[in-house]
Amino acid sequence: MTNSYILKKSVKSLPLNWYYDLKHYEKEIDKVWKNEWFYACHINNLDEPLSYLTLQVSSFNVLILKDKEGSITAYLNTCRHRGSILCKEQKGKLKSNLLVCPYHQWSYNASDGGLVKTSSIITPKNFKKSNLGLIKVKMKIWNGLIFLNFNNKSKWSLKKTFVDYAYEYAPEFEKLEVDDYKVGYVWKKTINCNWKIFWENYSECLHCPNLHPELSDLVPIYSRRMVDITDDPQWKKLIKNPHPKFQGGLREGSETWSTDGSAQGHKNKYLEDQKDFQGYVYMTTWPSMFLAVFTDHIRLVRVLPLSSETTEITSEWLFKKETIKDKKYDMKKVVDFAVTVMEQDGEACELNQKGLHNPSIKSGILMPEEYEIKNFHDWLKRKI
Ligand code: FES
Ligand SMILES: [Fe+2]
Repeated sequence: MTNSYILKKSVKSLPLNWYYDLKHYEKEIDKVWKNEWFYACHINNLDEPLSYLTLQVSSFNVLILKDKEGSITAYLNTCRHRGSILCKEQKGKLKSNLLVCPYHQWSYNASDGGLVKTSSIITPKNFKKSNLGLIKVKMKIWNGLIFLNFNNKSKWSLKKTFVDYAYEYAPEFEKLEVDDYKVGYVWKKTINCNWKIFWENYSECLHCPNLHPELSDLVPIYSRRMVDITDDPQWKKLIKNPHPKFQGGLREGSETWSTDGSAQGHKNKYLEDQKDFQGYVYMTTWPSMFLAVFTDHIRLVRVLPLSSETTEITSEWLFKKETIKDKKYDMKKVVDFAVTVMEQDGEACELNQKGLHNPSIKSGILMPEEYEIKNFHDWLKRKI
């Protein structure tokens, strides 16, 4: 710990019309969302063979499915006949290894997307079945986390996908065997804001004592509107004071993010042995996900744009098999706590979005503690 990240001077935020202007939105979809690896879900959402799930990224619908042999593939959820959506539900199970279009019943092989049959009485000579398979979406499964990329030329790079500090945690994360975790709960919400508003809110804690009383009580440094000891200009003097109010970490006696701070006997031994582990570690991958590792669970929050002013948030809670099996473990405690925080943030994001439409103001301002928002803005400007 040698540096403070706080900004030396206030800087301009992004132009306010970047949060609603349709042309600008399309530019971000093109340059960012169609080129970057984005997070889809944990593999264990697709528990059984033939199970599938769909997700919406702006106007694109993607289908991720596990075939009868258990291998997972992602396709654009579009029939090659006249473009109907193939699987309508967000989650479901195929009856067989065939994907049948609900419109005129063309059928596709679930394993490779190849067109198997049309419903026409004759097959014209110039009709080439082999050219009409489903369009695949590039996929990478990293530690049980499914990432997708619309750009077929893109190459997976852990370093480029996770932001710098998160990339440094990756080797530790790999030791947690996350592919073995089970999905205990999934929560979804559509928020009326641009996707960047979500990330800006996530990237600062100036709002914490005001909007998150419960969280600021559990993580005392947040009550000081800070996330790191070095956010305080006096941090060198505070370094010897062990109180979590200065050092970060959970309040004394607490073990995890839950309504009573307890991990109910499910502390991860490996994490507890890490001397730097303060009860939570965050990892971010722009534009689509952050995850938080706690001693008894992992939470992943996926962010997908639906339109210029609507964003879908999906949170998955992962637990070790033993935790899920333990009937005495009350999962509701961790779920409720995080949902409270996410609802509070969602409301703030909507307030932010509502006030942006003001032709007399060109942009907002970033204050010293908002350095991570500046990093996000710099990243975005490099991409578009
Ligand atoms: S659009 Fe799918 S079969 Fe016609
Ligand atoms: Fe917040």
